[in-house]
Amino acid sequence: MDNHQKPSSTPHVLLFPLPLQGPVNCMLKLAELLCFNHLQVTFLNTDHVQRRLLSCTDVSSRFKRYAGHFRFETVPDGLPAGKTMTGEQIGELLDSMEAVSLPLFREIVRSSVHVSDGAQNPLTCIIADGAFGFAVDIAAEFGVALMYFDTISPCGLWSILSANRLIQAGDFPFKDDDLDAPVTSVPGMEGFLRRRDLPSFFRIPDQNDPIIQRVLREEQQMKKCHGLIFNSFEDLEGPILSQLKTLVPRVYTIGPLHTHKKNRLVSEKGSKNDRNSTNSLWTENKSCISWLDNQPAKSVIYVSIGSLALMGKEQLLEIWHGLANSEVRFLWVQRPGSITGLDEENDGGVPLNLCRATIERGCIVSWAPQEEVLAHPAVGGFLTHSGWNSTLESIVEGVPMICLPYFADQQINSRYVGEVWKVGLDMKDTCDRDIVEMMVRDLMEKRKDEFLEKADHVAKLAKASVSKGGASYNALNCLIEDIKLMSL
Ligand code: UDX
Repeated sequence: MDNHQKPSSTPHVLLFPLPLQGPVNCMLKLAELLCFNHLQVTFLNTDHVQRRLLSCTDVSSRFKRYAGHFRFETVPDGLPAGKTMTGEQIGELLDSMEAVSLPLFREIVRSSVHVSDGAQNPLTCIIADGAFGFAVDIAAEFGVALMYFDTISPCGLWSILSANRLIQAGDFPFKDDDLDAPVTSVPGMEGFLRRRDLPSFFRIPDQNDPIIQRVLREEQQMKKCHGLIFNSFEDLEGPILSQLKTLVPRVYTIGPLHTHKKNRLVSEKGSKNDRNSTNSLWTENKSCISWLDNQPAKSVIYVSIGSLALMGKEQLLEIWHGLANSEVRFLWVQRPGSITGLDEENDGGVPLNLCRATIERGCIVSWAPQEEVLAHPAVGGFLTHSGWNSTLESIVEGVPMICLPYFADQQINSRYVGEVWKVGLDMKDTCDRDIVEMMVRDLMEKRKDEFLEKADHVAKLAKASVSKGGASYNALNCLIEDIKLMSL
């Protein structure tokens, strides 16, 4: 029998990611691992994401080896065609999906529960993004188990789910001039958490704001799920994972997923290097790898603000001056549309000294093969927006970070990087050219050995967790076995 032929009892999992780069990337990696372990997967994308994914990657041909085990389905998200998402618009996206995608999702679940049409087995389980509060009620309506895969950090999720505690303790709402006050009402984070480290929406001064109301509902919905999946590892966030288990006892901590996937697909299947298996929604510019090949070891700082954050013209120039003045080599991703306030006709271009510094020791691309960049020997630091995927990818490769968080869990991720894991510096809320220069020099020169040593230690823990017998390795096996048991 072919390795991936589908016996009639094959469990069938419906994966439904939030239609953004990070969650889609994570869920596709999980999909591939589930298919590799003989589960059947339906991957539900929005039309917009599906179009971009197919035009920027070879994802269709990659999943061909799981023929009969993997298929895409799509639903509209209700937003105008060509709309580019930014971090501030996630609430709008969720509202639109609740109005437009939810009824279609419900119909897909309804029609997949009992039907076995030869190609598709009845639905065993749904794995939905943690932001889809509606999914747990739909799953319950049709008697299907639902697990939430929260693709943000566990520390981020735990602080979000602590909204009620923050309100009770008077830690939220608060005023902007009180950002350094300590927060003691999030269990497990006493002693290092300040108001400025809380996820960005806690800076909204009104607890009746729709975003805060959504956050408060999330805790109730989450409690009803069958299990929680995280892209993290026990050695990194053990204490916070214990807290989360008080809310949802069944937690599967299976990250770092991209390393896991490489390990399993490469070692067990003997397939070639997996670095080309991108799930990017932008076309990767590989020329930066040739540029890196010509730079000395650990000499380059990689700069990227991820897939959603926007940078104003003033901030762009402050960072650029800081990088140029530090005299350190840099590789910078300037995503199309990510820089606001640029008036190309009247701005007169970029100052000459910045152009010179870029020509002499810089490289700018519109989108990079980030996992490959971070694994490159020339990269010695990462100036990042502290998105969870970027943070984890940097941790795995032992690359110390300078954190410049924008929104959502990024504020708390950066606090953990600087204060708890000590694998970098937190620049939060203070980005000017002198600070950029000072931090780049600290990370790449003055305190280089100290940061590299610490980052290397944490990277080893990450890699051990997904190696045979490691905690994440075992958790993934446990997840697969639990899903198989559901289909008996
Ligand atoms: C969003 C939220 O902003 C973040 O807080 C949350 O943790 C996850 O979702 P996003 O901007 O997508 O984050 O950042 P991140 O989670 O870091 O994901 C970006 C992904 O894009 C990473 O997997 C990274 O490897 C990839 N990427 C980024 C590229 O492949 N190339 C690039 O040039 C930049």
